[in-house]
Amino acid sequence: METLLLVDDDVSLLESLSMHFEEAEKDGEPRFQVVTATTAAAGLAKARECAPSLVVLDMMLPDRSGLDLIAEMKSVCGDAPIVLVTAYHDMESTIRAMKLGAFDYIHKPFADTAALDLVINRALSVRQLSRRAASADLDIAPARLGDLIGQTPVMQKLVKEIGKVAAAPRATVLVTGESGTGKELVARVIHNYSFDEPRPFVGINCSAIVETLLESELFGHERGSFTGATASKPGKFEVAADGTVFLDEIGDLSPQLQAKLLRVLQEREFERVGGTKRIGLQARVIAATHRELTEEVKVGRFREDLYQRLKVITLRVPPLRERMEDIPILVKSLLERINGRVHKRVTRVPPEVMEALVRLPWRGNVRELENVLTRAVVLSPGEVLLAESLPRDEPTLEQDASNWLPADAPLPTLEEAERQLIERALVLTRGHKGRACQMLGISRPTLERKLVKYGAARSVKDPLKSVS
Ligand SMILES: Nc1ncnc2c1ncn2[C@@H]1O[C@H](COP(=O)(O)OP(=O)(O)OP(=O)(O)O)[C@@H](O)[C@H]1O
Ligand SMILES: [Mg+2]
Repeated sequence: METLLLVDDDVSLLESLSMHFEEAEKDGEPRFQVVTATTAAAGLAKARECAPSLVVLDMMLPDRSGLDLIAEMKSVCGDAPIVLVTAYHDMESTIRAMKLGAFDYIHKPFADTAALDLVINRALSVRQLSRRAASADLDIAPARLGDLIGQTPVMQKLVKEIGKVAAAPRATVLVTGESGTGKELVARVIHNYSFDEPRPFVGINCSAIVETLLESELFGHERGSFTGATASKPGKFEVAADGTVFLDEIGDLSPQLQAKLLRVLQEREFERVGGTKRIGLQARVIAATHRELTEEVKVGRFREDLYQRLKVITLRVPPLRERMEDIPILVKSLLERINGRVHKRVTRVPPEVMEALVRLPWRGNVRELENVLTRAVVLSPGEVLLAESLPRDEPTLEQDASNWLPADAPLPTLEEAERQLIERALVLTRGHKGRACQMLGISRPTLERKLVKYGAARSVKDPLKSVS
């Protein structure tokens, strides 16, 4: 049996909620023991006595605000989720409550208790998950920042190749791989291991800058060489000195600059734009591209001779789907990095969440994994990475809509269509109203109003059926 602590100064609400929860059963046994309090002080005292599994806390208590109470309640109740209840729709306290670690924030009066039931069931299952995940904590030596994570044979092979390349600190290197695979990271690791003492690493994205500007960015320019060149300026090749120039997205370089680059690589010398002095190239050049350069050569977009020159040492960074076994350690180390960045401590990943992560297609590779985890960390209320904050490998509403209204069926009324859409959204999101609102492009109050209109949601699987 789980203990629920309800703290609210509205005695009649406490009574009706107590009755509601005391009626709930699980496997023929009462599911909850309900403890109530009408003030903050009494709530804390009861919490100490009964060690509740979950606390439902009113915002406006006679002696203190529920918001103020969150931190203290958490310190008394450990991992028991706290659900705040309020009669007001107030953005600021909603944000503050969630920030302080409330599990959820719901509004009263409750049209019926379904919304509250949904939240409480979710809160309790998250708590259970988190307890199970505690024992499933990943046991991996922490990686140093900037390390290339990966223990699969393909990644180990890459690391060995990097080692060889680092031993030849002047050789030009081409790094290929799909978007987000870690090409830039590979370039940095090559750089870091090429020199014992710190040297400059100068990167430039060849696709992000217009051609005329790119030329002067790469090679520098002399004063007066073009309108606006009021002072002379060294380019990346010069600034990199005896370090590394990283030419990102080399596949997007214009034909004219491809020719110039080829010459620089052949002669290991260049001039500033508008200048005559020959400057020796000391830096190592690492180029990267997500394009298939052989294809680009075939269709005439990339010079064959430049390609031949670049490809001598090619490192291919494998897509994430070719190294799925690395996902758990990547998740672990990315989480560490993300927690630091967003000041959170989401450290536990339940086994089923990890399985779901390993199964996703990751077309955007490690960068997509990092983005997805960042979002999930921000949205997860406690220390546990929640499955619901991850993208689902499910049909989206758009895909689903294609067979939503069969062409030969009679058109429903607008109201009926709306009802069905809301129902679909709630099924697709497994009853997650926030996500359903996002899908439908409506606000939460609008959804709530429509749910009341069409009959409030009772069960997650079949949200609207039971009432209508
Ligand atoms: N093996 C890895 N271990 C740890 N972090 C990684 C790994 N691979 C990629 N990352 C991280 O993923 C993100 C994307 O990597 P990076 O920018 O190097 O990819 P990219 O191949 O250059 O992508 P794009 O083609 O989109 O420019 C970075 O934050 C990087 O630190
Ligand atoms: Mg990149």
